[in-house]
Amino acid sequence: MSLIERFGEHIERGREPSESGRDPSESGREPSESGHEPSSPSTTAPNTAAPLVVVDAIAKTFDVSPPWLNRILEGKPRLLLHAVDDVSFEIARGETLALVGESGCGKSTIARMLVGLYKPSRGQVRFDGVDLSELGSPAGRQMRSRLQMIFQDPYASLNPRWKVADIIAEPIRVHRTMSGKDAIAARIEALLKQVGLSGADAAKYPHQFSGGQRQRLSIARALASRPEFLVCDEPTSALDVSVQAQVLNLMRDIQRADGLTYLFISHNLAVVNHVADRVGVMYLGRIVELAPKRRLFEMPQHPYTRMLLDAIPVIDGSGQMRTAVSGEVPNPLNPPSGCTFHPRCPLARERCRSERPLLRQSADGSQVACHAIEENWS
Ligand SMILES: Nc1ncnc2c1ncn2[C@@H]1O[C@H](COP(=O)(O)OP(=O)(O)OP(=O)(O)O)[C@@H](O)[C@H]1O
Ligand code: SF4
Ligand SMILES: [Mg+2]
Repeated sequence: MSLIERFGEHIERGREPSESGRDPSESGREPSESGHEPSSPSTTAPNTAAPLVVVDAIAKTFDVSPPWLNRILEGKPRLLLHAVDDVSFEIARGETLALVGESGCGKSTIARMLVGLYKPSRGQVRFDGVDLSELGSPAGRQMRSRLQMIFQDPYASLNPRWKVADIIAEPIRVHRTMSGKDAIAARIEALLKQVGLSGADAAKYPHQFSGGQRQRLSIARALASRPEFLVCDEPTSALDVSVQAQVLNLMRDIQRADGLTYLFISHNLAVVNHVADRVGVMYLGRIVELAPKRRLFEMPQHPYTRMLLDAIPVIDGSGQMRTAVSGEVPNPLNPPSGCTFHPRCPLARERCRSERPLLRQSADGSQVACHAIEENWS
């Protein structure tokens, strides 16, 4: 039995998400039971057919050069690290797009650009039609409450000196999405119940909770400003498998109830298989394959996707891989020429060493960047 099948035993399976994203009509949001006003300042009806998130050719380059004086004295050049390069995708309302790939491929950097924590070096992220580089403007500030992020580490992401009530209330106060002490207290209690905790937990501190409970607190805090879009960066990878399943079930239930849109980042394909509608596979800062989940898991096209799927652990007590992912991820400061996957690719030919493959759309709407697929090499 594969890890994916084993993991599935823990997941309470409800309605399967559709391959092409959810029905846009599901994303309608009810007003709060606590009298909260919707955060969107828009007076016109939103265009629910348009994607909520549009990522247009974004790139992020980090300057990792030694200090100026060392460069001068030791004659060292400037060093630029291209963490993300020319990445484009869209996320429909109510959809979950997952990004997978080995460590260092740029997943978290994309996550941070999508919530405005990093400014893209090139390209643009649009949320509901608004360029995220305008988050500082009055319209942009109102936009901020509509996107939230859940981080990997539930220990580091909660202030240990604050009570739970203050932690969850913080986004409400920052974004001024509600007013009135009693209304905010009622909202905190409702949020704690929504994530399976109790109203009495509001008076406790984070250290009084287990890892899974802390991630529930992180989710409650992320939901406090009634966001429409949640960026989840490895939200369950610090938790053990049975707790992961509980938290994923909770996130799925909240998504269905509130019509949320997710960007879900994970290196765990078993998790991705259960949460995603579509999956983007990343390698060294670029998307190499983007497809509906079922298509990707049943008929992976890109040699790297196939390698990742072959490496899903076999659960026989040994935790061994079926086939280990072969080769090392190259140094991003000195990436290989052409297709950056060519040193590890069993299909690599001369063209792969000299020419970078472009992400091309196939008839079924999926996209893959590989000369072998384009030219039908066997
Ligand atoms: N602030 C930064 N300054 C310099 N380099 C960075 C910075 N943040 C990320 N990087 C580099 O950018 C590349 C992509 O990093 P990123 O954290 O986005 O990868 P990731 O896919 O999230 O990896 P992981 O699975 O380990 O979390 C890596 O080479 C990383 O070292
Ligand atoms: S372009 Fe060439 S090296 Fe890259 S994945 Fe395709 S076959 Fe392999
Ligand atoms: Mg990361």
